[in-house]
Amino acid sequence: MTDIWPDHLFLVGCGNMAGQMLRRWLACGLDPARATVLRPSGRAVAQGVAVVTDYPASLPAGTTVVLGMKPYQLGEVAALLAPLCRADVRIVSILAGTRLADLRAAFPAAAEIVRAMPNLPVGIGEGVIALHAEAALSVASRTAVEAFIAPLGLAEWIADEGRFNEVTALSGCGPAFLFRFVDALARAGEAIGLPADQAARMALATVRGSASMAAMASESPAALADRVASPGGMTRQGLNVLDADDRLLKLLTDTLVAARDRGEAMARGE
Ligand SMILES: NC(=O)c1ccc[n+]([C@@H]2O[C@H](COP(=O)([O-])OP(=O)(O)OC[C@H]3O[C@@H](n4cnc5c(N)ncnc54)[C@H](OP(=O)(O)O)[C@@H]3O)[C@@H](O)[C@H]2O)c1
Repeated sequence: MTDIWPDHLFLVGCGNMAGQMLRRWLACGLDPARATVLRPSGRAVAQGVAVVTDYPASLPAGTTVVLGMKPYQLGEVAALLAPLCRADVRIVSILAGTRLADLRAAFPAAAEIVRAMPNLPVGIGEGVIALHAEAALSVASRTAVEAFIAPLGLAEWIADEGRFNEVTALSGCGPAFLFRFVDALARAGEAIGLPADQAARMALATVRGSASMAAMASESPAALADRVASPGGMTRQGLNVLDADDRLLKLLTDTLVAARDRGEAMARGE
C-alpha cells in the first residue's frame, strides 16, 4: 500500500479537534515516531508521539504542519513558526474563519497551504472535512492531501472560499443539530407515553440505523422516506406533519442561516 502519511507531522495545538484527528490517524497506521505535537501544557497525547512546549530549531524535510490552536493565536504562532516553514513544508489549517490569504501572509515561504474544516466525527473516521487550497496546488499535492485526510471521513473540496461559513453551518455545526434531533425524537416519544430511558435508546438506535442504511442505499434519502411511507399508513401521516408548508425544511434552513450569519459576524469581529 502507498504510504499516505507525510514524512513528518507537526501539530500546533492538540485539543478537541486536532486531538481527534491525530487519534484517528494513529488508529489508521500513522507511525507515532513521525508525529510531534506542540502544546503549551506539554500534556502527553499518545504513546510514542513526541510532545514539545517550544519550537524546534528546524522541521524535518517534507513536514506537514497542522495548525490546531485557536484562530486568534495565529499571529503569535506565526512569529515563531514561519521561519521554520520553508519550501518543503505543507500547512493544513483547521482555524475556523481564517482565510487562505491571511495564512499565506503569515507563512510566506511555505510550499502549500490548505484550509480544512473538520467536524467532530473525524475521530471515528466518519467526519466531514471541507478543503480549500490555493489555485496553484498541484494535482499530485491535491491527491496527497486527499489521501492523508481520507482516514478522517468524507473530504469535499470547496471551490469558493467564500462558502466556508455555509459549509461550517451544515457539516461543522451539523453534529450538534443532529444531537438535538435525536434528543427531541426521544422526548417526543416520552411525551406520547414511552418510558424516557427506552425512548432515548430507541431514538438513538433509529437515527444510527437509518443513517447507515441511507449511506448504503442507491436511492436518495428523500426517495427512501417516500418508499417506506405507504399511502394512508402511520409513517405517511407523520411525514405529512413534517412536510406541511415545508415545516422541517424551513426550520433547518433557518438553523443554517443563523449559524452562517454568526460566522460572518464573527469574521467582522462582532
Ligand atoms: N472544536 C470543533 O468542533 C472545531 C471544528 C472545526 C475547526 N475547529 C478549529 O480547531 C481549532 C482548535 O479548536 P479546539 O476546539 O480543538 O480548541 P482546544 O480544545 O481549546 O485546543 C486548543 C489547542 O491549542 C493549544 N494552544 C494554546 N495556546 C497555544 C499556543 N500559543 N501555541 C500553540 N498551541 C496553543 C492548546 O494547548 P494545550 O492542550 O496545551 O492547552 C490546545 O491543544 C480552532 O482553530 C477551531 O477553529 C474546531
